[in-house]
Amino acid sequence: MSSLFEPLKLRGITVPNRIFLAPMCQYKCTGRDGIPTDWHLVHYGARAAGGFGMLIVEATGITAEARITPWCCGLWNDEQVGAWRRIVDFCHGQGAAMAVQLQHAGRKGSVYREFEPGRSGSVPVSDGGWATIAPSPIPFPGLGAPREATAEDLAKVISDFAAAAKRADAAGFDAVELHAAHGYLLFEFLSPLTNHRSDDYGGDLASRARLLLEVAEAVRAVWPADKPLLVRLSATEWTDGGFSVAEATEVAGWLKECGVDLIDVSTGGNVVVKIPSAPGYQARFAAAVRTAGLPVSAVGQITDPVQAQEILDAGQADVVSLGRVALREPSWPLRAAAELDADAMARYPDSYLRGRWPSDPIW
Ligand SMILES: Cc1cc2nc3c(=O)[nH]c(=O)nc-3n(C[C@H](O)[C@H](O)[C@H](O)COP(=O)(O)O)c2cc1C
Repeated sequence: MSSLFEPLKLRGITVPNRIFLAPMCQYKCTGRDGIPTDWHLVHYGARAAGGFGMLIVEATGITAEARITPWCCGLWNDEQVGAWRRIVDFCHGQGAAMAVQLQHAGRKGSVYREFEPGRSGSVPVSDGGWATIAPSPIPFPGLGAPREATAEDLAKVISDFAAAAKRADAAGFDAVELHAAHGYLLFEFLSPLTNHRSDDYGGDLASRARLLLEVAEAVRAVWPADKPLLVRLSATEWTDGGFSVAEATEVAGWLKECGVDLIDVSTGGNVVVKIPSAPGYQARFAAAVRTAGLPVSAVGQITDPVQAQEILDAGQADVVSLGRVALREPSWPLRAAAELDADAMARYPDSYLRGRWPSDPIW
């Protein structure tokens, strides 16, 4: 039997297999109100029916000003909770576990979605944008300058994360993932390239990690004890002087002490640099962070079932997360089960059984 299809127990949740849907913004809250739409129901529903073990729902703003774009999802009010509940319930009905990635976009917030016709860069306040905050007033290239976050701002960020986690629980999510990767607020604090503060939240690694650890503690305090807490980290910035894999591994150990259950290991996103991407290019970072003693997910150009299985067999990761390949192939896990001879472990919707892999050549 392929271990890709073995269940994974995280606290009180049993994820049916080791294939996660990576968080991917859809930018489809057409009312610019953070309320997920029918698009999200169909998008997540198809992948739940497609056999993914856990869906990590896209970066979701803890407040309106924490979003990346005005079209991003949110979890700052009850209407959003109700809309998520419908999606989570449907996906649960297909057998998938559901996580949501909680987000503060920091200096990379208030931007146009990447496919907005004729518009790019920062969204002005006149078009529904907002003023951004960051550890230090250093703009991301091409975007508006952020304001240096005050101690009051940080106290609010922490309590907003906790409040959003409570709403995630009310919406029925099984897990929360804190977005501390890709150059958004929590990562901006981790990185010496963007955190030039001289207060308790800047300086050595323990100080740069303070905000993330305080957020993790605050979320853990309100998040049910039988539900797992995940953190996505960028384990390298691919440039000298940036946050390093050794630092990421140390922070992962501290997060474990805060009650974090799994690290989702990505890279980059805080500075503009050429990333040498290739198939499975981030798996070695997952393997390094795994030495901190908690389960990890590997992500990044994992597209082939045998390749995914090899990452688990090599002990580089406990699960794989799939991004773009899942956009083009919502039921990738069903094909993978056939290719890895784990068909008995596949989770076909009954209506789809006649189309199962390998397809019956006779009908
Ligand atoms: C359309 C799109 C949206 C994304 N949105 C997010 C996001 O909301 N949060 C996040 O942590 N990463 C996001 N990512 C990064 C993916 O989760 C993933 O790490 C990346 O695409 C690499 O994996 P892949 O090679 O399998 O696509 C996004 C990627 C894509 C293509």
